[in-house]
Amino acid sequence: MSTDEEILGRTSRDDLRAIIAMSNTDIDEAIHVVQDNAPAIFTWDYEKGRRPALNKLYEKAKHAQWNGETDLDWSVEVDQEYFAQIISMMRQQQMDAAGLDLSRTPFASWGEKEWLQHAMENQNWSLSQFMHGEQGALVCTAKIVETVPWIDAKYYASTQVMDEARHVEVFAKYLDTKLNGHYPINTHLRMLLDDIINDSRWDMTYLGMQIMVEGLALAAFGMAMNTTPDPLLKQLLRYVMSDEARHVAFGVLTLKEFYEELTAAELLERQEFAFEAAVRMRDRFLQQEVWDRLGVNVKEAVKLFEVPPEVKNQDPFQQLLFSKIVPNCKKLGLLDANDGWLRKRFDTLGVTQFEDWVDTGEEYLEMDAVTQDRLAAEGA
Ligand SMILES: [Fe+2]
Ligand SMILES: [Fe+2]
Repeated sequence: MSTDEEILGRTSRDDLRAIIAMSNTDIDEAIHVVQDNAPAIFTWDYEKGRRPALNKLYEKAKHAQWNGETDLDWSVEVDQEYFAQIISMMRQQQMDAAGLDLSRTPFASWGEKEWLQHAMENQNWSLSQFMHGEQGALVCTAKIVETVPWIDAKYYASTQVMDEARHVEVFAKYLDTKLNGHYPINTHLRMLLDDIINDSRWDMTYLGMQIMVEGLALAAFGMAMNTTPDPLLKQLLRYVMSDEARHVAFGVLTLKEFYEELTAAELLERQEFAFEAAVRMRDRFLQQEVWDRLGVNVKEAVKLFEVPPEVKNQDPFQQLLFSKIVPNCKKLGLLDANDGWLRKRFDTLGVTQFEDWVDTGEEYLEMDAVTQDRLAAEGA
């Protein structure tokens, strides 16, 4: 059994200095090379529908394709500054409500102008991370097509490759035509994607990408969709989420079957991986690249977040990000295997309360916005 220190590569889970000490070193490179150690697997068993749930998902995916160029109204004018103002005001209210004391921080002298600039950079940063995460999903699902031994899963994963290409495309287009600047990938997100690609075991791609990264993305997109005042971004996220729900369901339905056969020791490796992924994803929300760009000393900036772990881990925004991951981990048996190893870790992150929320293997059908819109258009 590994210690938390060995899993995370630092002594304390909440050590902010250790978290921000990690930074991206190859941001000026046009490409990033990662060693993929997994064997490509052919199967000679072509029986379609041997796994009915995956077959159903595949048939669904073929019908729910949409076109990023024509199904979104790109003619909509986006006033980034105006939208940032609204978001900045909302954030201000949240900070006031949380009773944050900014007096000995670099923000003591900040006025409306600085907070507005911050809100705009924050948008550029968030959308950039969404885009990089989508490319991670594109590469990971191409890997799943190669490495999963089941034909129904290869079929389904191939539709997800197309979905992810569309997602990268629409986020890149939104950034290029509606916002005003890209950010490089966040270090913690990149480390996580590298780990997932490195791993030689096919199910780890599922766990890392389909359950953890996409589970968090589904929750984060949902929050962004509910808060953005921009109708184009709202619709973009609504359609992306409609695909993402299917993707997370694909992870849940596949791993449910596979994990039933694993030993306790094998399950522990999966639990450790899930915990590591959860902490890395949480770490990226320190947004160290934004502070850098705004000329704020990152070490000083993160003082904003320097609250005791028990307070930090009660942050409702941070908690909600895990609202999809936790019930899905429970459904897979990961929460309670090995005397609740992962449950205890999730307890310390303050997220276990979501365990009985609906899992995505059940809810994806209700989230099919593309089909809903088509039916509405036919009825009109
Ligand atoms: Fe995606
Ligand atoms: Fe996805």
